[in-house]
Amino acid sequence: MCFSSTIITKHSIHFRSIIIFSFIITTVYNCQNFNSEETNKKNSELILSTQIFLDMSYALSTQEKAKLQIGFLPDQSPGAENDSKELIQLGNKIFRDINLSANRIQACITCHPLDGRSAGMDRQSTSRGTFGQLGKRNTPTILNIGFSSVLFWDGRRTTLYEQAIDPFVNPLEMSLPSDTELITRIQNDPSYHNHFSNTFPNDPTINLHKVRLALSAFQRSLVSKSKFDDFVKGDIFLLNKQELDGLNLFLDSGCNNCHSGFSFGGNGFAKLEDETLYNPNDFGKYEVSGNTNDRFVFKVPSLRNVFLTGPYFHDGSVSSLREVIIRMNSYKKNQTMDNSEIEALIAFLKTLSDRTKSN
Ligand code: HEC
Ligand code: HEC
Repeated sequence: MCFSSTIITKHSIHFRSIIIFSFIITTVYNCQNFNSEETNKKNSELILSTQIFLDMSYALSTQEKAKLQIGFLPDQSPGAENDSKELIQLGNKIFRDINLSANRIQACITCHPLDGRSAGMDRQSTSRGTFGQLGKRNTPTILNIGFSSVLFWDGRRTTLYEQAIDPFVNPLEMSLPSDTELITRIQNDPSYHNHFSNTFPNDPTINLHKVRLALSAFQRSLVSKSKFDDFVKGDIFLLNKQELDGLNLFLDSGCNNCHSGFSFGGNGFAKLEDETLYNPNDFGKYEVSGNTNDRFVFKVPSLRNVFLTGPYFHDGSVSSLREVIIRMNSYKKNQTMDNSEIEALIAFLKTLSDRTKSN
């Protein structure tokens, strides 16, 4: 068996192509010597190098496909280039400050834990607010949120700047009576004064605009590093056969029609296939737009870190990723997936996890 090198011409300047090219040479060499020597040893070497070559071309062609159809996560969220270190630090402080909730026990970080191996959401179906009141929606992770142009499950906000004050005054979250109360509490806490004067040396006045700027800068800084991105950027040895199969399945079954781009979602909406499966008290986007076509339309969530962020869906009603995939797959009614395909998809989704997180 002898091979053509056309498959790798696009990668000819890439050093990995050199490795592949040397495999081809070895294989061709083996091909030529095979007939003359006909030893078992040569035979098994040939089979081995053929297998390695096939594995590498599978990885390379999958990488090429992922590069074209998905891309990789940039190192910075849009707008982060203007965020100073001081602004991010101030945002981090506000994000963690329990004194900014009605009874001073809850902060953003309570529902969006980030420290250590936590992946930006609390693993509850729906979270409890300051007074134990149960919200109706699942808490999304805020890792990579800077790449999302649709915020909240119903898309009622489009920028982190607009969104920043909502949780403080949301009666299901931190329950402050007003945004004036928020500013008063920050003003009354001397530990903020240096932060504001270092961040805004020309005008250290504490106001809502600056709180918004700081919280959005902090959240923009939460960019995760995954195995998938390193694979697309160049290391074709990173994904094993099952993960590559899952990636191909993801693209071939049209998951990326909705979970599109390098964020795998986060920038659009879709209607659920069977509204009876979900909480009938949540109409999704309709609650914001009032348009009847928007009933049960929800944000298509980003799938980055999805392996770490169950329970799933806007109402946290499904705890296993397997069940989610079966339901997602039924969006295309004529399509069924067998067990090994579901396992492959899960293996692939796992490669989207931040390398430092395990929840
Ligand atoms: C009581 C738990 C809780 C607290 C506290 C909380 N959040 Fe959330 N967060 C949620 C829930 C639940 C949602 C989804 C709500 C919805 O879609 O209606 C959410 C959504 C978000 C989103 C949009 C995510 C997306 O993928 O659309 C951002 C950003 C966010 N929160 C940031 C914050 C910040 C900043 C704070 C502090 C000022 C905060 N949260 C405090 C529970 C909480
Ligand atoms: C028609 C658009 C569409 C297609 C196609 C689609 N999804 Fe989804 N996906 C959604 C929407 C919308 C949600 C959120 C639903 C909800 O919250 O009720 C979602 C949620 C998910 C979730 C749960 C995420 C979370 O954080 O709760 C996973 C996992 C998922 N999809 C995987 C897939 C896979 C795998 C495929 C391909 C087999 C797929 N999706 C195809 C629209 C789609």
